[in-house]
Amino acid sequence: MSNRYCSLVLVNFTKTRFMSTSNLKNIRTKSKKEIPIVKGLPIVGTMFSILAAGGGRKLHEYIDKRHEQYGSVFREKLGPVDAIWISNPLDMKLLFAQEGKFPKHILPEAWLLYNDTYGQQRGLYFMDGKEWWKYRQIFNKIMLKDLNVHFIESYKIVINDLLNEWELRDGQVLPNLIADLYKLSISFMVAHLVGGVYDNYKNDISNDVNCLAQSIQKVFQCTVKFTVIPANISKSLKLKIWNDFVLAVDNSIESANNLVSKLMSFNGDGLLNSILNVHDIPIDMVKRLIVDFIIAAGDTTAYSTQWSLYTLGLHKSIQNNLRHSLLETDFLECDYLNNVLKEVLRMYPLAPFLARFSPNDIYLTDHMIPANSLVVMSMFTSGRNGKYFNNPDDFEPDRWNRLKNNKYKGVNEPFATLPYGFGARSCIGQKMAHVQMCLTLAECIKRYEIQTMKPVKIALDLITVPDNHINIKLQKI
Ligand code: HEM
Repeated sequence: MSNRYCSLVLVNFTKTRFMSTSNLKNIRTKSKKEIPIVKGLPIVGTMFSILAAGGGRKLHEYIDKRHEQYGSVFREKLGPVDAIWISNPLDMKLLFAQEGKFPKHILPEAWLLYNDTYGQQRGLYFMDGKEWWKYRQIFNKIMLKDLNVHFIESYKIVINDLLNEWELRDGQVLPNLIADLYKLSISFMVAHLVGGVYDNYKNDISNDVNCLAQSIQKVFQCTVKFTVIPANISKSLKLKIWNDFVLAVDNSIESANNLVSKLMSFNGDGLLNSILNVHDIPIDMVKRLIVDFIIAAGDTTAYSTQWSLYTLGLHKSIQNNLRHSLLETDFLECDYLNNVLKEVLRMYPLAPFLARFSPNDIYLTDHMIPANSLVVMSMFTSGRNGKYFNNPDDFEPDRWNRLKNNKYKGVNEPFATLPYGFGARSCIGQKMAHVQMCLTLAECIKRYEIQTMKPVKIALDLITVPDNHINIKLQKI
């Protein structure tokens, strides 16, 4: 049965999409052109242009316009981040091909400053070099390669609990949609960690899950404020945004630690058990890693699920097609459901930017990028580009249907959307997140008709969020 999970469409992201990069290198001319540089004022740089464009919350649109003006490669310093921004998927392939054995990404300055100031040690996302690789290998095996199927029964308890709560709101707008989805994604993660005993203990931890859900949301909201006034300046000036941020991170780490201590005492048969018993990892390190998994799972799955419900609620006929497909096919084998999710994540990429430090000099679209440069991939721009996706602003799950020649019907360059990143540092939770979202959508759509009351736009709270509350009404079928 586990093969079913291994054959999930996610595999596409890591294997089949990657055309030979040696070919790519050959088609590049090695002429050097100057990288266009966006110049700003002394000290403040381009801060006023960003503010005029809507600040950090509209950074995806700001960078999109810059690509229109300067092309697919340009350089701009945003606050403390001096980066080369790229939007051509062929360049992205080249960059990933040369990311090195221990790929390095960029972390929000505020999070690093917090860790340095308070001596906080964090999990996989914050690790680098040999330490990162040591733990990444262990989790690659248990979270990607041999993802266990036992968790599905516990996942079903989690989603049923939420849908039973929503039943009381039949015919009304859901008042706390995103808060409910935060709780849902943290509960999924908890169910995965403790396995079959989840049902016995879920009531004992519901307060911990609620506290954690609230504090994680706050951390992201606080972090985005540092796009304009860098964290180090905010900290030196003792600004309110720094104090708020510290409080939010303190709370999230404390709540996650309390939760993990409880989970450890449950002696379940889930992921936690395999980490504690099979792998020789010191308890402190297990806690550090698991705390960060829970924090990483909160936002990402909650917002991606919210975008999925939102989009289906705007497209009645696609919703009906999906409902129909799910009556005939198991949710894990439903191609149409896979296509819906791919399309949602293309249009609403949770990470609108991916980043790598280039370990060597590389040539991208005729520009030489010196070793150790920070290169940021503009995934929002590439995912909405008409060159790579026909009618890029339209929600068309069928574009992902394969034609006889094995090409996609409406996708010219699948590498232009990478919702879980790519390569050795791609998302470790991608398979579990995919199963959780498939299950949530399948169960929800079988019971309810989803109606989105009002369209919203994209904003950034570091990740892609709506610029306004999403109002969704569920009507029992
Ligand atoms: C829909 C849900 C999710 C999305 C869209 C998502 C997306 C991403 C992206 C874009 C990255 C960076 C990849 C790169 O730089 O190449 C990432 C990294 C990561 N994600 Fe996720 N993620 C999701 C769910 C989860 C879950 C449920 C977990 C919990 C285990 C998780 C844990 C992580 C961790 C630990 C990393 C850092 C990996 C490393 O540095 O080795 N994510 N995710």
